[in-house]
This record gives sequence, C-alpha cells and structure tokens, in this order.
Amino acid sequence: MTWWFWRKRGLASVVAAQAKRRRRWWPTLKAPLILLIVTFAGLYLSARIVWRRGGVPANLSVYPDPQSIKASVVKSIDPDKPLCHPLLRARGRDIVDKNGDRIKLISANWYGGSDMSMVSGGLDVRNRSGIARTIRELGFNSVRLPYADEIVQDNPVIEASLLSANDDLVGERALDVYAAVVQALTEAGLAVIVNNHITQARWCCDGYPCDMGWANDNLGPFCPVKQSEDDWIENLMAVMLPHVNNTYVVGVDLRNEVRGPTGRYMWNSWATAAERAAARLHELQSDWLIIVEGVSSANDIRGAEERPVRLQHQDKLVYSAHVYGWSGWGSLLPYWYRTYKSFAEDMDKNWQYLRASDTAPVWIGEIGAPGRPARKDFHYWKNLMRYLQETDVDIGYWAINPRKPKNNEYESYGLLEDDWETPRYDYRLMDLTSLRRQ
Ligand SMILES: *[C@@H]1O[C@H](CO)[C@@H](O)[C@H](O)[C@H]1NC(C)=O
Ligand SMILES: *[C@@H]1O[C@H](CO)[C@@H](O)[C@H](O)[C@H]1NC(C)=O
Repeated sequence: MTWWFWRKRGLASVVAAQAKRRRRWWPTLKAPLILLIVTFAGLYLSARIVWRRGGVPANLSVYPDPQSIKASVVKSIDPDKPLCHPLLRARGRDIVDKNGDRIKLISANWYGGSDMSMVSGGLDVRNRSGIARTIRELGFNSVRLPYADEIVQDNPVIEASLLSANDDLVGERALDVYAAVVQALTEAGLAVIVNNHITQARWCCDGYPCDMGWANDNLGPFCPVKQSEDDWIENLMAVMLPHVNNTYVVGVDLRNEVRGPTGRYMWNSWATAAERAAARLHELQSDWLIIVEGVSSANDIRGAEERPVRLQHQDKLVYSAHVYGWSGWGSLLPYWYRTYKSFAEDMDKNWQYLRASDTAPVWIGEIGAPGRPARKDFHYWKNLMRYLQETDVDIGYWAINPRKPKNNEYESYGLLEDDWETPRYDYRLMDLTSLRRQ
C-alpha cells in the first residue's frame, strides 16, 4: 500500500513537473512562433500578389500614338551637325569634348559581334551605313559595339549569308567585319565605344564561370576558349589598333559585367587589371577614354571609393554601371519592385557618389526594357527615367537589334523592326528623347 502510494505520487509529480515545464515554455514561445508563421505566410502571399500584379501588362495610356512619338523623337535632329568634337576627356563628373563643352553620351548598343555568329546583327538585311544613319536619326550620338575575345583568337571568315546586304564584306574575317562596322558608324558621325563583352562568342551574361571575368586561366583546362589576363589585353589592342587614327572611336569599355564568386573577380583585382590594360592601350593612343565597369555585373562601383582606378592619363577614366529591372544585387528585391526611394538610394551608393563628388564621370552603358512592358518593367523604367533626369547622367540603351542570333528569337528590348530601318516608336524612344541635351 505504501509502495503503491509513493509510486503513484512519484509518477504524478513527474507528470505534473512535465506539465509545468510545458506550461512554462508554451506561453513564452507561443507569441513569437505565431508571429513568425503569420509573418512568413504574409510575406509569401504579398510576394505572390506583387509577382502576379507585376506580370500584368503596363498601362501606357499616358503616352501618345506612334506618329506623335516619332515627331518628338526626330524633332531637332540635324543629320549633318557633328554630334561631338573629339577628343573626349573627363572633367569632374562630365565627359567634355575638345572645346571643353559637355558631351552627354546617349548611346545605342548594337550587338552581335560578341555572339555566336560573331558579326554585328542586321548586316544580312541592310547595309551598315544605312543602319548607322537610322541610329543617328533616333537621336543617339554614340554606339557601344560589343565583341567576344573568340573573334580575335579564332577570327573566322564570316558566313556569307550573314553579310548578304553588305556584299563588299563577303569573304572577310570577323575582325575586319567588326572594323568595317566601326568605320561606317564613325563616318555617319557617331562616336564609337568598343566593348569587350565576353570571352566565348555567345549570349552574355550568365553564371558560366569561363565568361565571368577578363581571364579564365585559373580554371585549368575546363574552358573551351582559354584566356589569360595578357591575352585579354592583347585582344583589346588588336581590336583597337585599326582605329588609332579615327578620332570618332572615342574609347574602349574594357570588359562587360565582371562578376563571380571568387576573389579574383572582386573590385581590387579588377581595378588592377583595368589599369594594366589602360596603360598598354594608351601606348597605342592616349586619347582613348578608358571605361571601367563595376563588379557584380556592373551594378556596383562602391569599391572605387577606397580603391580608385588610377591611370597615367587620369582625365581619360570613365566608370560604367548597368541598371536593369532584375538588377539590385545584395538585396532580395530587384528594381522591378522597389519604391523610388529605395531605387535611388541604391543608385546613389553604387555609383552616383562618384559624380556627386565630382570625382569621375559614370556612363550607364546598359539600360533597357521590353516594348510591351509588364507593370514591373514599366515601374523600373519610370523610376530609372526619373533618376536619370534628376542626375543628368550619360546612358546607353540595350539594344537596337530586333532579334537575337540564337534561334532568331524576337528581341523584346529592341528598338528596330526586322527591316533594321523602321523604329518601334513607343514609350522607350519617347523617354530617351527627354534625356538628350541637344
Ligand atoms: C545603303 O543603303 C541606303 C538605303 O538604306 C542607300 O541609300 C545607300 O546608298 C546604301 N549604301 C551603300 C554603300 O550601299
Ligand atoms: C595612323 O597614322 C600614322 C601617322 O600618319 C600612320 O603612320 C599609321 O600607319 C596610321 N595607322 C593606321 C592604323 O591607320
């Protein structure tokens, strides 16, 4: 009897103690746990709603019809007026010309020389002088022309069918065709910025390690197109050499969207590589602007505050950033979904500080959005346009091409129709017009 009694009491006290313990942790943890679950559910649901709403076609009813847009785009363009007076240089935050007047770069990207066909797009449709003239008529004063290192290293004869509207180039090799396009652009009065875009000739820019930086020899035998830092510099020299006496070739954008997880591709090593390339290029022609993009796919030039790029000809240095809707590195929220305040804060800290402090010019070498934007695209675009107007910064639009080389896919960011002549007169050309200075 006694034994049973004590045994039951012992059991009961253990159960009671357990219940007490349970009672102790449950009240303290209940509130935070529920809060956590509700927060996650809330975040998930709002993300879904934002995502859905972002995908709905944007309302563009504030923009006039294409004919009226055309009228404002072509207004005040004099096809015979020089667009700039080389030689260009940096003065504080501005790029200025020979006379010391500011020249604001409003550039068009014309791609293809860095892609699988190794030739600028459209040469099978229209002669290059015609395309150059159209670019000019849309109010651009300069062109960023990408190439891949592979076109220098392999330099194959370009397939005749890709040059069918430029008979004189049939039989030429990739580098000569590239040089001929540069020539046609400068003859039309456009300034040209040569751009080393990628190593292997293909669409840029994904997470493929061989193309993430200016050199890939640290990856061993893995890369199909191998390249050391010296190769990269020699390739830049080879592409620039034919243009040493062409003052309208105003500069060289050393490497597109350096990115990647390893220290090699971080700002300090990139700045050092850029300085080495600049020193060699300036031996050829000290008039060239040297354009250095930020890291993290050209989002981020914060490193230049502690570790500026130093050139022997310091007044030739221009930094460059890229700003797309999906950009916004280091944050969960891409620019598609940012408030203006949050967007502008990123711009300020990522690159605008260089201009605000009058340290160096920054050219936003790539911006772009689809012709028929979703709400999120248009939201990014409006924030971007507001910021560009407030800061009066130099820009480059990606791109004029109506199609991508791979599978002849429709280029929704493109500004020209398939004839490489008819512009898509929509909100983008309208807004770009408002950024022009003259
Ligand atoms: C190029 O095409 C334009 C029409 O787009 C024409 O006026 C011009 O003569 C052509 N130029 C050459 C060199 O074929
Ligand atoms: C540039 O001009 C110099 C001097 O006139 C000449 O010696 C050189 O061959 C030219 N280079 C090119 C690539 O045209």
